[in-house]
Amino acid sequence: MEHSDAARYWDEVYAERPASADPQPNDRLVEIATALPPGDALDLGCGGGSDALWLACRGWRVTALDVSAVAATRLARQARSRGLSDRITAMQHDVRASLPGLRFDLVTAHYFHTPYAQDRTAILRSAAHLLRPGGRLLVVDHGSTAPWSWNQDPDVRYPTPQEVAALMRFSPARWTVERADTPRRIAVGPDGSTAEVVDHVLLIRRTA
Ligand SMILES: C[S@@+](CC[C@H](N)C(=O)[O-])C[C@H]1O[C@@H](n2cnc3c(N)ncnc32)[C@H](O)[C@@H]1O
Repeated sequence: MEHSDAARYWDEVYAERPASADPQPNDRLVEIATALPPGDALDLGCGGGSDALWLACRGWRVTALDVSAVAATRLARQARSRGLSDRITAMQHDVRASLPGLRFDLVTAHYFHTPYAQDRTAILRSAAHLLRPGGRLLVVDHGSTAPWSWNQDPDVRYPTPQEVAALMRFSPARWTVERADTPRRIAVGPDGSTAEVVDHVLLIRRTA
């Protein structure tokens, strides 16, 4: 899918979904980043920006990128209204094209799934190389299909966190897998209904 088609697709998704008055961060981010000292974070496919806002509230400086201008603009507005503009740079940007020339302590990609093919491994791998030594890459993927998911294909197979890590071919001399597991949680759908879902969580630390 071309850049403009991807942008249009996600713009329509977000335009149909009203901005949340009280955006809640993803559970796994809270679980993992609460213990980390604040630094510079890159949020890949930030969407509505709840994770970026949560990180910024905890003192992180966040670069939040999304191919959707609707999402990025919404986040910039939320950051302004919360007095967090100095800590959040929200930009409409297709990360297939390039990544920022900056260094980070945390790269986070939550549910970075698309209904069109893109080389996610290459994007995650390039983003991981922006980490400072000691920094972490957190990839949280869907591990099951929620009733409200756009993808109801019964044959869909969710790669395990171990498979996602293997695809990136990181050298154990410079990278350590700190967490690769498949926890469950109760998720809330757009209509307020709830369902138990599985997350695929991968946390990799750059050691050198
Ligand atoms: C399923 S949503 C997840 C959003 C958010 N991280 C969350 O946890 O709610 C995937 C996001 O990735 C963004 N995205 C997909 N492909 C992208 C690309 N090539 N460059 C930047 N953002 C992209 C979409 O616009 C969308 O906001």
